[in-house]
Parts: sequence; structure tokens; C-alpha cells
Amino acid sequence: MTNKKGRLAGKVAVVTGGNSGIGETTGHIFAREGAKIILMARREEQGQKVVAAIREKGGKATFIGCDVGNNDSVQEAVRKAASTYGRIDVLFNNAGGGAGNSFPNEPIEEFQRIIQINLTGTFFVSQAVWPHLVEAGGGAVVNMSSLAAQRGFSPKMLKEFGATSSSYYAAKAGVDALTRYLAGIGGSSNIRVNGVRPGQILTPGATGGTSTDPDGGHHVFEKMFNHAQIVQGPGYPEDVANLVLFLASDDSRFISGEIINVDGGVAAKL
Ligand SMILES: NC(=O)c1ccc[n+]([C@@H]2O[C@H](COP(=O)([O-])OP(=O)(O)OC[C@H]3O[C@@H](n4cnc5c(N)ncnc54)[C@H](OP(=O)(O)O)[C@@H]3O)[C@@H](O)[C@H]2O)c1
Repeated sequence: MTNKKGRLAGKVAVVTGGNSGIGETTGHIFAREGAKIILMARREEQGQKVVAAIREKGGKATFIGCDVGNNDSVQEAVRKAASTYGRIDVLFNNAGGGAGNSFPNEPIEEFQRIIQINLTGTFFVSQAVWPHLVEAGGGAVVNMSSLAAQRGFSPKMLKEFGATSSSYYAAKAGVDALTRYLAGIGGSSNIRVNGVRPGQILTPGATGGTSTDPDGGHHVFEKMFNHAQIVQGPGYPEDVANLVLFLASDDSRFISGEIINVDGGVAAKL
């Protein structure tokens, strides 16, 4: 691996939720493209494994424990992150998830927890990292949304597959609005802010695709997404990570305030 000529050469990137799934794959791809990586998440042991795997391939990475829903934890983690490699150029606000119970059987505590991780967490980390991006002369923020922010479900789907929590839908829609808002604020500081909106991606956190699920979510794909997509076959973490790389790099220098679907064409269909 060369760290000299990649699309993120010389940059320092923070990836929240970087110890699993889409965040883990993005960490590898960012490192391959020459960035120094700070992975943030709660599970230290899992984070150190990912760091070791990135270093094994010649990349530079550090894990910092962080609960994005807790502002004290975020402040401390970002302080450490900024001093680890001396600057921050890229932020991938990826930490999140949480299917939860469906409405109207959603306890308020669960509603607030899912909003806290997905939406408030994106706000906390962006706010803490922002001065470092300004200090670096600009940068790129990529926020993790979801098809849930843009699409609901038909009565037929509801009957056949059920629904996840309203909190997840509301949180990710909030992330989209925050993305456009922050893009406006970032313009004068040369900070671009964009989002990615995945459909179903086969990761440990995907619906029905927990790490203990023997088929890694394939049955959910077969039941629900296979017929809904235009592109054939399931989506994988690389499909999202490649878009995140584009939005994090100077290749997308003229794009800000956009949230781009990476969903096999689900949202494009009638
Ligand atoms: N997979 C899909 O189909 C899909 C579709 C649309 C959107 N997304 C979004 O993509 C993102 C990544 O999901 P994934 O599918 O890759 O799932 P995943 O493998 O479960 O990854 C989620 C990551 O977020 C971290 N995380 C969760 N809560 C956190 C918290 N409070 N503080 C810090 N880190 C936290 C987890 O690590 P720790 O548990 O160690 O903290 C883990 O690294 C999520 O925001 C999810 O909503 C996924």
C-alpha cells in the first residue's frame, strides 16, 4: 500500500462507528487512499482489531473509544483525535443504527435513545470537529443517512414485513436536514457537507443481519429488497464506502449539501 498518492493523501479522517460494517470498510478504503484514520466507537476490543488489520496492510490508524450520544465522551475523544495526528480534514459521521419497536408501541426512552445516537450524535461530533476543520483550512463531512429518511412503506409491505421504529426514520430525516444546514454554514470556511443514503446493505447491523444471523441478512434481501431494487443483487459495505470516499475527497470539490442514494435504485422506482 502506498500512502503517498491516494485520493486522501496527507489527510486525517475521523470515522465514527468505525469498528464494524460500513464504517470498518470505509476505514480500510480511506487508509488505502493515504489518509490517517481515527476510528471512534464504543467497543474497544473490536476497534483495536480493525486498527490492527489496517496497519497490517500498511495503513495508519488509531482507535479512540467514544459514545457519540454523550457529549462529554465526544469532546474528550475529539480532543484526543486532534492531537493524535495534529489535524482533522475529514469526518464521516457513520455511527448509528437501532431498529427498535414499531409505532405505536415505541417507549419514549427508546425513541429518545435512537434519536440521541443517530441525530444528536451527528450534531455533537460535527460541533466538536468543526473548529479543527476550520483550522485545517477546510474539509469534508459525510453524514450517514438512510433510505428511511426518504421513503416510508406501503400497506402491503407493512403487512408482509412489519416496520422498524419511527425514531429511526425521524432521526435519519433529521440528519438530512442537518447536512444541508451545515453545508450552508461551512461554505465560507471551505467545508463541504454531504450525506449518503443507503438502502439495505449486508452488514452486522443491517435489519435481520446481526453478526449471529447465519445468512448475514440475505433472507431480508431476498424477501424485501430483491424485487424493490433496479440493480440486481445485495448491497455491500464497499458500495457505500466508495461513495463516501468520493464525497470525502477533492474529486467532489463542487458538491455540497447533497444526500446521495446508494440503494440499488430502490428510490428511483415507481
Ligand atoms: N446496513 C444497512 O443496511 C444500512 C442502511 C442505511 C443506513 N445504515 C446506517 O449505516 C451506519 C452503519 O451501520 P452498519 O450497517 O455498518 O451497522 P454496524 O455494523 O452495526 O455498525 C454500527 C457502528 O456504529 C457504532 N455505534 C453504534 N452506536 C454508537 C454510539 N452510541 N457511539 C459510537 N459508536 C456507535 C457501532 O460500534 P459500537 O457498538 O462499538 O459503538 C458500530 O461500529 C448506521 O448509521 C446505520 O443506521 C445502514
